[in-house]
Amino acid sequence: MQALAHPVLVLDAHDRVAQANAAAEALFEMSAAQLDGLALAGLLPGSAVVELVSQCRAQGRSVAGWELQLATARGGRLVADLHTAVLPEARGMIVLTLSVRTARQRLDQGLSHRGAARSVVGLAEMLAHEVKNPLSGIRGAAQLLQASVDPGDRALTDLIVDEVDRICALVNRMDAFSVAAETRREPVNIHEVLERVRRLAQSGFARHVRFAERYDPSLPAVSGDRDQLIQVMLNLVKNAAEATPREGGEIHLATRFQYGARATRRDGGPAVALPILVSIQDNGAGIPEAVRPHLFEPFVTSKTNGSGLGLALVAKIVGDHGGLIEFDSQPRRTCFRLMLPIAEGGPLLHAS
Ligand SMILES: Nc1ncnc2c1ncn2[C@@H]1O[C@H](COP(=O)(O)OP(=O)(O)O)[C@@H](O)[C@H]1O
Ligand SMILES: [Mg+2]
Repeated sequence: MQALAHPVLVLDAHDRVAQANAAAEALFEMSAAQLDGLALAGLLPGSAVVELVSQCRAQGRSVAGWELQLATARGGRLVADLHTAVLPEARGMIVLTLSVRTARQRLDQGLSHRGAARSVVGLAEMLAHEVKNPLSGIRGAAQLLQASVDPGDRALTDLIVDEVDRICALVNRMDAFSVAAETRREPVNIHEVLERVRRLAQSGFARHVRFAERYDPSLPAVSGDRDQLIQVMLNLVKNAAEATPREGGEIHLATRFQYGARATRRDGGPAVALPILVSIQDNGAGIPEAVRPHLFEPFVTSKTNGSGLGLALVAKIVGDHGGLIEFDSQPRRTCFRLMLPIAEGGPLLHAS
């Protein structure tokens, strides 16, 4: 039962959880101990599940439900197929199996982001060569002109210099995308990374936000590049902070060990396990519908002064780590989830 990919619950004669497997723990975001004894009606409130289970009891045989809209007690939403069966060897006990519809779609979505990241790499290299060099020429020429033009026209040469500087800053930000930035592979304490980013955020752009952490203290080390992972978390937390309301803004940082998440590798090698789940959730207005399909592509922004490079860089770095990123967003609940590989033989780390 523990090894099954689908969430499985065993219910007692009163529709309370008697047993839950690892996939069910992950789905409901609760440990088996927390789930033990919980009423089904509380676990999946307002759904057709309770009704299907009582149907199963009444008829004494299996019942299935397809594409049910479910809401978990922790506020997650999902679409799932459901199977119930009576346990012949234990009177009154029922086995309930869910198969979540979105899992496959989510993985597909994650993989397509890698393509978006790759296209930025080419763009970054083109910009570095074709744009940066001429820019310094233009800037120098404008500065030379400054000496000889009428004082009244100085404003114009100043304008040229300022605008060139602005483009240079943008191109420099693109440098992070070039392949030259190697991804190191060493054990990284993801809690240390998150705490660092949180402190940075709270002393600056996220001063108005309340942070809440829910870290899994037994989480093993991530295999990756510490500096790049800091960049990823910083970009995600910055977006979250910018989305939260001025009053009552909240960001939740959470980590969890998740069995069973795997991704195929770009080089066609065996699938790698991505058991480290990091989520960053805010209570902002949600991701605008218009930007969603292209969220991870460069220059996609809904902000007046946005660069649209934050998430493109996130997608590139996560892809370089062999990880996945996904999001779901509704008003007051936007969540980005990262799935990252574990450092082989790395020590267990504890929340700082
Ligand atoms: N937590 C979030 N809540 C709402 N919208 C978001 C969030 N994160 C990202 N977005 C949307 O994604 C767009 C792209 O983000 P990003 O790539 O970081 O660029 P930028 O922040 O410069 O606009 C943002 O403009 C915003 O519309
Ligand atoms: Mg941003």
